[in-house]
Amino acid sequence: MKAFWIPAIIFLAMIIAVLAGGGCRSKTGGTASKAKAGTIASEGEVWTGWNQYQIPDYTEEGQEIRYGYELIANTSYYLGPKGTVAALTNGMNCQNCHLKGGTVPFGNNFGKVFATYPLYRARNNGIQDIYERVNDCFQRSLNGEKLDTASREMQAIYAYIKWVGDGVPKGKVFAGTSIMKLPFMNRAADPRRGQSVYQVKCVSCHGADGNGAPNPEGTGYLYPPLWGNHSFNDGAGLFRLGSMAGFIKNNMPLGTTYRDPQLTDEEAWDIAAYINSHARPLFDQHEDWKILSKKPLDAPYGPYIDSFSQEQHKYGPYGPIAIAQAAAKSRVETIK
Ligand code: HEC
Ligand code: HEC
Repeated sequence: MKAFWIPAIIFLAMIIAVLAGGGCRSKTGGTASKAKAGTIASEGEVWTGWNQYQIPDYTEEGQEIRYGYELIANTSYYLGPKGTVAALTNGMNCQNCHLKGGTVPFGNNFGKVFATYPLYRARNNGIQDIYERVNDCFQRSLNGEKLDTASREMQAIYAYIKWVGDGVPKGKVFAGTSIMKLPFMNRAADPRRGQSVYQVKCVSCHGADGNGAPNPEGTGYLYPPLWGNHSFNDGAGLFRLGSMAGFIKNNMPLGTTYRDPQLTDEEAWDIAAYINSHARPLFDQHEDWKILSKKPLDAPYGPYIDSFSQEQHKYGPYGPIAIAQAAAKSRVETIK
């Protein structure tokens, strides 16, 4: 059944793509020959990726890209606790956080990855390539183990990320290719206020205990966990309040897009505080952020370049920290 539908859907998608795009797949001034790549569609300057049906999987290269997509979308099936390839991860999928295969504007997409890596990253105190960045998410966001760089799986993930970002010129930063930064509130984010909104807008899928819900096959989640033993660990990006707030504001409840958010900024900050106030697996982070002046102000663990408490770094208010850090950084610059 499935085997019959997939080619039919691809064929339909191709017809639609040709009709909609007049055969020209690049809306940002690329030439038709560049259009063989699977990407670049932008609305104004906001980047939107191609969808999986545009993967050219009639070629060998395309099949590798397709496998990479599969691993991003159904990570747990292949690499989760009961993974068919190996048991390396916690049961979540990359796509739980990198929505629709990492193609959604402000949905934590992969648009700029191929154009920007290798990249200096302050969290790791050095230059990181795409493999290392992916493994960061394996170890932190999937609370798992590293994937061997030479493995068929890592090579396929690489091929997919390359395909998604192909055609994004080096140095060009499209809007929507990072998690949106929300304006700071004047107060600290409040887990109790967050809880009451959570009960209305999130609990139906993610549960009162934050554990989400498994899929019927037991190979992963229908609704992924937000906290607890099976969720991302405390070294993951979403454990920073600003990242969590920006992600949920533009993407949750499920079906939300950045054009039609259903939470106010305050609600997003408060729910983020509620989610991140719960226990989750621990990750050894003592090698992170060695250069304190480059540590983000919402990093939930010290030491810090300023004298604000860990509590304030975790929940805000961030305005005073931002002012103090700007002053401290300019002192550091002067000493240099
Ligand atoms: C629990 C959520 C979560 C999961 C699951 C997750 N990631 Fe991430 N990932 C993040 C966050 C948060 C960031 C940082 C985004 C930012 O700072 O704008 C990130 C960043 C990345 C980046 C760099 C993006 C950029 O633009 O620099 C890559 C590549 C990446 N993840 C790949 C993966 C892969 C591959 C998987 C699955 C093996 C995965 N991630 C699973 C949350 C997640
Ligand atoms: C209708 C069900 C539904 C509702 C309601 C919903 N979510 Fe989700 N949420 C999902 C699904 C499904 C995913 C994974 C997306 C995917 O894999 O495509 C997800 C992913 C997430 C993630 C990233 C993955 C993780 O487990 O950490 C966060 C954070 C999140 N949701 C928070 C929220 C918050 C906060 C609300 C309420 C404002 C909410 N969700 C409401 C279904 C829902």
